[in-house]
Amino acid sequence: MTEHSSRPGGAAETPDAGVHVAIIMDGNGRWAQARGRRREWGHRRGAESVRSVVRAAPDLGVGTLTLYAFSSDNWSRPAAEVGLLMRLLERYMRREAAELRDNGVRLRVVGRRDRLDARIVDAIAEAEATTESGDRLDLRIAVDYSSRHALLQAVREAASREGLAADRPDLAAELGRVMHADGPSRDVDLLIRTGGEKRLSDFLLWECAYAEMLFTPVMWPDFSGEHLASALQDFATRDRRFGNVQLAG
Ligand code: FPP
Repeated sequence: MTEHSSRPGGAAETPDAGVHVAIIMDGNGRWAQARGRRREWGHRRGAESVRSVVRAAPDLGVGTLTLYAFSSDNWSRPAAEVGLLMRLLERYMRREAAELRDNGVRLRVVGRRDRLDARIVDAIAEAEATTESGDRLDLRIAVDYSSRHALLQAVREAASREGLAADRPDLAAELGRVMHADGPSRDVDLLIRTGGEKRLSDFLLWECAYAEMLFTPVMWPDFSGEHLASALQDFATRDRRFGNVQLAG
């Protein structure tokens, strides 16, 4: 969480909004292959980790949790793997919505919907409606998500609102409003990537402007609420200056 509320283009953050944690859930395939199993098995176990982390998050002070479930570049994976991931997502929406609602979780899906099957789009809409009143945790699941695509769309919209006057000083503020208009989007406080790689993979490029980064070798199927708790302990020790200097006192 941060006390800064006036960074250019950034969304104002309220002090009680909780920490925004975003997670790149990487390592499912390698985890399964290391055990002599197909990659799909890793994704199934990865869905269990999602449940564990979502249950733990509200009591750890997390107000917003954004999970990268399917990137726009993931369409290029083998059809069987894409199909399984889509089935897991649909199942999650259909089976978990009631429990999420009972636990005060509001679910939103971010990303494109125009390339998803109608069944999945319906399941998403139903889950979002079921969980609409959740006020303990904003859970955002990124599906067919590309940060570059989201940014391009936002620039187009902001520019049209500003009459295409790209040099207008308020364009950056308008862009910030557009970027954060779609539900409870906020700047990311802590970005976690599991699976040992150290890259952003087109995830929340705008929202991560001042995010603290934590890269862990733990594969996503092994990641649990306890790992989230220790990541937050690490985050609590970070000195966040947002381009400023350390102020005395
Ligand atoms: C990256 O691991 C993971 C994905 C592309 C899919 C993530 C999906 C889930 C965790 C399950 C479904 C999600 C929900 C919300 C129910 P990878 O396959 O790239 O792993 P690798 O780097 O070892 O190949």
